[in-house]
Amino acid sequence: MVKTFKKAGDIKVGVIGYGGTFNMGAAHLNEMKRAGMTPTAICEIDKERLKAAAKDFPGIETYSAAADMLKKSDVNLLAIITPHNTHALLALQCLKAGRHVVCEKPMAITTAECDAMIAAAKKSKVVLSTYHNRHWDGIILGAMQHIRKGAIGDIVRVDAGMTNWGKPGDWWRTSKTMSGGIVYDWGVHILEYTLQIIRSEIVEVNGFMWSGIWAPFTKWKKDTFEDDAMITVRYASGAWSTLAMSQIESRSNPHFIKVTGTKGTLVMHWNASEIVTHEGGKTISTSIPNPPNEGWKLYQNIADHLTKGTKLVITAEWARRPIHILDLANQSSKLGKALKAKYR
Ligand SMILES: NC(=O)c1ccc[n+]([C@@H]2O[C@H](COP(=O)([O-])OP(=O)(O)OC[C@H]3O[C@@H](n4cnc5c(N)ncnc54)[C@H](O)[C@@H]3O)[C@@H](O)[C@H]2O)c1
Repeated sequence: MVKTFKKAGDIKVGVIGYGGTFNMGAAHLNEMKRAGMTPTAICEIDKERLKAAAKDFPGIETYSAAADMLKKSDVNLLAIITPHNTHALLALQCLKAGRHVVCEKPMAITTAECDAMIAAAKKSKVVLSTYHNRHWDGIILGAMQHIRKGAIGDIVRVDAGMTNWGKPGDWWRTSKTMSGGIVYDWGVHILEYTLQIIRSEIVEVNGFMWSGIWAPFTKWKKDTFEDDAMITVRYASGAWSTLAMSQIESRSNPHFIKVTGTKGTLVMHWNASEIVTHEGGKTISTSIPNPPNEGWKLYQNIADHLTKGTKLVITAEWARRPIHILDLANQSSKLGKALKAKYR
């Protein structure tokens, strides 16, 4: 049985990583606070960022090494908000020390890392989740409302892409080793949307990845992430999905995500769902505004799970599914063939 708490305020929470790019450490702690939990500790290896953290949360415990924090602090739940290649190791350290963990997306880089994290959480009887806050984005909440009502019939295909032309930046996100690759940052959010839309088992994954065009011009040289990638997934229902990510596409796709069903197509725009159907030879296009983003519900659900036993929405097994696709796609692109999924 997972260790539980009488009330949310009893859950002492902390973050590992207080980066300045998007100020995600502060965002997590504020959302945890909004869900009634108690901000207690911050661990950050960068001295300047640790100073900023102490200023933002006066009186909070600060640490410059996770091992030190786990030894000295009685913090119960930790969010890991660090570069992708450090998620698994830090999570394992925390889970083995009996702490609940919410790992930022992507949960990890490989399926094997996810498996090890899930096993460690089970052994320590603690919760392991992933910060898939975009599960509650208005763009997917709106799309799911229409899809569930049958607005486009049964799902045939999901096409998604974030493509543009431009030299990758010199931050860790464009290092293949640290990020996992071009498909791991936004790609994991898009796959998490896709898996909500296609409620079926993953059968097979094909990955196509091109590298070397931008590599000579970046800080990482041969460790630069891919220039272009395409992932196709076959599902048991007969549906399939595609995901394209590119830094070399000169004319980028204006449609972020398009869902084609047996009765119509739904285009997911940031502000609205556009539903296109055909009736009596006429094309009918309807645009329906999306509901607001509700990403804060993630920590509310975690707090409710730990205090009232409410069902966890983002389970570790759910978060492993997009990672399994990304991992198989990486392997598939190297082998030049489709690979069968182990986790459906
Ligand atoms: N869910 C979302 O909407 C969303 C948005 C932005 C970022 N992210 C995710 O958050 C994570 C971090 O991204 P970021 O933009 O904050 O990066 P960042 O580079 O701004 O911050 C990362 C921080 O981690 C610190 N760090 C690295 N190793 C550490 C360790 N061992 N112990 C303690 N601190 C360590 C670094 O010093 C740095 O300050 C990534 O997984 C990213 O994908 C998610």
